[in-house]
Amino acid sequence: MRLSVIDHPLVAHKLTALRDASTDSPTFRRLADELVTLLAYEATREVRVEPHPVRTPVAPTTGVRLTSPKPIVVPILRAGLGMLDGMVRLLPTAEVGFLGMIRDETTLQATTYANRLPDDLSGRQCYVLDPMLATGGTLVAAVRYLLDRGADDVTALCLLAAPEGLEVVRSAFDEHAHVSVVTAAVDERLDEQGYIVPGLGDAGDRLYGVV
Ligand code: URA
Repeated sequence: MRLSVIDHPLVAHKLTALRDASTDSPTFRRLADELVTLLAYEATREVRVEPHPVRTPVAPTTGVRLTSPKPIVVPILRAGLGMLDGMVRLLPTAEVGFLGMIRDETTLQATTYANRLPDDLSGRQCYVLDPMLATGGTLVAAVRYLLDRGADDVTALCLLAAPEGLEVVRSAFDEHAHVSVVTAAVDERLDEQGYIVPGLGDAGDRLYGVV
């Protein structure tokens, strides 16, 4: 597994505003959206492209375009939805699949309650959107799900990660060179309820309210 922690003043600035408990939901959604686009720039560094001829107003030349099959973006419901627009702004031709996963707040185990994804993901590059890499259980289950369907390259975009969760993902995909995590920061630790400290609270609640 590869890890990229994005060291950039704009990323740190937006993340600080996201952490602030007084940031309201509309502002939180806008900041999350902007932050994802910055993470997406780094996360797509190895998106597959092929040579493509183009005629400029001056001369013919060769550029590149995304290859087929197109990449697939997979937000994990519900909080991952808050990252979708920011991601597809950078990859507008990507397909979008959905994984509904919920963690039991007592056992902290993740279970899948919904999925809308092709059965065959052979040769696909997948981008998983999950704002909080906390215990790692949800992300490991999601990445395994995609690899089992044939995906050969999976990159997770997380706003924040905890060292404990990163270790879980790292040991699950130790041998897998094509599993990557891109995050804005690695925080101190998890608390006893599985929240990232200092973190930003419950990402789903802060995006969409407590429902
Ligand atoms: N999920 C969240 O939304 N926040 C955390 O801190 C941990 C998991």
